[in-house]
Amino acid sequence: MGVGLSVVDLSVGYQAPDGGDLPALGPISFKVVPASFVCLLGPSGCGKSTLIRVLAGLQAATDGGAYLDKERILQPSRQVGIMFQDANLMPWRTVIENIALPLELVGVEKRQRLNTARQMLPGLGLGAEFAEAYPGELSGGMAQRVALGRVLIQQPQLLLLDEPFGALDAFTREQISIDLMQMWSSLHQTVIMVTHNIDEAVLLADRILVFSRRPGQIVADIPVNLPRPRRIEDSYGDEFGHLAGQVRAAVQSG
Ligand SMILES: Nc1ncnc2c1ncn2[C@@H]1O[C@H](COP(=O)(O)OP(=O)(O)OP(=O)(O)O)[C@@H](O)[C@H]1O
Ligand SMILES: [Mg+2]
Repeated sequence: MGVGLSVVDLSVGYQAPDGGDLPALGPISFKVVPASFVCLLGPSGCGKSTLIRVLAGLQAATDGGAYLDKERILQPSRQVGIMFQDANLMPWRTVIENIALPLELVGVEKRQRLNTARQMLPGLGLGAEFAEAYPGELSGGMAQRVALGRVLIQQPQLLLLDEPFGALDAFTREQISIDLMQMWSSLHQTVIMVTHNIDEAVLLADRILVFSRRPGQIVADIPVNLPRPRRIEDSYGDEFGHLAGQVRAAVQSG
């Protein structure tokens, strides 16, 4: 089961190129219940990736803070997994060696970690014939599936996804979203996912947070109470269309 997340009066600023302050994000506050799937939407540059980095413990807040259950996030931890738009695989390692990397870093014996990685292939939608393939032989979608495997193998309680499918074509993206939903329904981590795609957010999320322009603040907090399991066909329905319209209006108002 995932962990609960609290963001309390969080803001982040950077130094602007002219040396002044550049407020990038906040102040924002929100709570996420364990095992829920939250999507973040907002204009480019409103601080979404900044928020993801703070939640991953990779960057400090300027004010306020974020908490996993009651514990303040101050540094990266094994409980938190993060995945970006770029798969960033090691080109000299095979698919299963890439997936197994986090287990190697914590000293799991070779045969055991490769077996664990191999068992994940069907869930990731990767055929067994690709186990020994190298990243250079994979399509963009397959590389992202491997990157997803590499983050899931460490069994994170909080999964942070920053536009993980942003570079993929619409069809591949839909397929991977469905597979991600399937895996999440059995693992049930807490997920925070940044996307620019409104339909993707409605399909995946329990809740959508919409951010304003920089410095990003939360302008809408929209629950998505569509029944699960969800299928692509659900996106043709009236209720889905109504929610997508509501999200679109919030994005435009921000
Ligand atoms: N390391 C940095 N130093 C200075 N400014 C930064 C830094 N990182 C981000 N910024 C600025 O902070 C603001 C928010 O950036 P961020 O990458 O978090 O936005 P985003 O919402 O993820 O945008 P996008 O949707 O384009 O990915 C932007 O104005 C950006 O230029
Ligand atoms: Mg970003």
